[in-house]
Amino acid sequence: MCGIVGYIGSKEAYPIIINGLKRLEYRGYDSTGVVLYKEGDLALCKTKGKVADLEAISSKLAESKSTIGIGHTRWATHGEPNDVNSHPHLSNSGELAIIHNGIIENYDAIKTQLVNNGFVFHSDTDTEVLINLIEYVKQQEGVKLGKAVQIALKQVIGAYAIAVFDVKKPNEIVVAKLGSPLAIGIGEDEYFIASDATPFIEFTNNALYLEDGEMAIIRQGRELRVRNINDDIKIENPNISTLNISLDQIEKSGYDHFMLKEIHEQPDVVRDTLRGRLLVNEGVIKMSSIDDHLNKFIGAKRILIIACGTSWHAGLVGEYLIEDLARIPVEVEYASEFRYRNPIITKDDIVIPISQSGETADTLAAIKLAKEMGAFVYGICNVVGSSIARETHSGAYTHAGPEIGVASTKAFTTQLTVLALLAAKIAVSKGSISTTEFHQFINQLDAIPNKIAQVMESESKAKEIAKEYADATNFLYLGRGYNFPVALEGALKLKEISYIHAEGYPAAEMKHGPIALIDENMPVVVIAPKRGHYEKIVSNVMEIKARKGKIIAIVSKGDTEIVNLADHYIEIPDSAEPLTPMITTIPLQFLSYYIAVIRGCNVDQPRNLAKSVTVE
Ligand code: AGP
Repeated sequence: MCGIVGYIGSKEAYPIIINGLKRLEYRGYDSTGVVLYKEGDLALCKTKGKVADLEAISSKLAESKSTIGIGHTRWATHGEPNDVNSHPHLSNSGELAIIHNGIIENYDAIKTQLVNNGFVFHSDTDTEVLINLIEYVKQQEGVKLGKAVQIALKQVIGAYAIAVFDVKKPNEIVVAKLGSPLAIGIGEDEYFIASDATPFIEFTNNALYLEDGEMAIIRQGRELRVRNINDDIKIENPNISTLNISLDQIEKSGYDHFMLKEIHEQPDVVRDTLRGRLLVNEGVIKMSSIDDHLNKFIGAKRILIIACGTSWHAGLVGEYLIEDLARIPVEVEYASEFRYRNPIITKDDIVIPISQSGETADTLAAIKLAKEMGAFVYGICNVVGSSIARETHSGAYTHAGPEIGVASTKAFTTQLTVLALLAAKIAVSKGSISTTEFHQFINQLDAIPNKIAQVMESESKAKEIAKEYADATNFLYLGRGYNFPVALEGALKLKEISYIHAEGYPAAEMKHGPIALIDENMPVVVIAPKRGHYEKIVSNVMEIKARKGKIIAIVSKGDTEIVNLADHYIEIPDSAEPLTPMITTIPLQFLSYYIAVIRGCNVDQPRNLAKSVTVE
């Protein structure tokens, strides 16, 4: 997720773009840049770091008085954060400039075609490929920028919100959208371009949000011309909204907290994490980071997953997935324990650290130890170019975008997504599952984003249940099999944002002690999809009911047994058991969120916690 900003009008563009980028830094902040038009030339300044770092080195642009320009703040997906990979990118001729939010899946093939036609590349980004494709089309077809953008985008697979500028046509900016947001602010004889309205809301509250597959040629002093990219049909009377929301609300997309926004982002970010990797129609999983080391995975004697907190819970689901599908022994360890217990690690081991931030000190230290002892280290991380990402031998990124809320939500479900891809890829490659089983699994995996979207409907019910239990002093979370780690994760969510004590347990463990806690004051969340050992969990629920425990059950749609035993229940869509954690965790996120809100807790920045634990 990146932030894009552009301006064309009569005001000085530089301050508008810089301030706009600062407002979009919540969307990404690892590198940034701006390009302005000035007397027949493009003045470009870009750098690794935050917008404040860009401001410190772009005083010349500040003095330029230019009235047209584009700027970008990056959340890296292709190519690590550095000066060269930051946007804007220029075409080979230096005449075209682009800023881009999204992922071009087929950039590799396009890049090869362009290299064969004499283009050279300076960065590792998919965006530089796109601007040179536009240049190539412009040269080959002899068309203007708008037409060249349109023809080029028809060759592109992926997601984009782009703004493109031609130094030879300094009175216009071309924009296009597919899968990533793009808003056009419409002022008095001026236009603003941005990922959301925060950069221009103080100048105008008239905004046009492009729809997927639309593009616009923005020219000062002229009506906005919007057209459909594919069929070239002009969009008559595009819908212009009058905004009356605050800056703060726009940053959170209208949600009260980043955590709630990020819960709702999960269908999209899980889809983004699958994008270009899960090719259902071709019946394959394509991940070069695995393919390049596939024999190592297939021949692994043992896999150790090391992580902390929510990422450790994801690792536990990973253990079930990899052992169940790929039949490779897996151990999951807290990084903080692993690094000090003098572990036995050999060169036959594969170590998989999982980390959202990529900066967790204990996990980083554990990686270094594992490497010293000869293990192959494959990381799963959300921040491109982070310390952990750079320390591992290989790895895969979750495409969750920046996670601002301290409580991990979308990081968890995207980590599970990568683990499912990894387990299935290894399993079918080593023959521990049949091709038929593999195809069934990847079809189920492909359906997960829509199923997560469906379970967003559970928000209102979770909010109602939260009202009844916001004053509880203890909670128990129970699950079995793949959903035991979800019980742990649900308990952690509640603890860290509502400050209520909660414990997660394997449901069958109740009789080994915890059932002594059960009485009418103990709410018990039971994760009981109609998969796995459903009948056994029915017995567990009956044991709790017999002792007057208050039961909140997460059940499969259409459940007829547990719904009659529980005090409250939330239904979820059915899925293959190994994939249910990506769905069952959602209602628990909502439940902890609303309990915390009712208790007046600081949901996005809970007491005593930091988003990234970079110290021991
Ligand atoms: C989870 O909600 C917490 N924010 C915390 O447990 C977190 O998962 C843990 O600190 C690990 O962070 P990482 O994934 O960035 O390494």
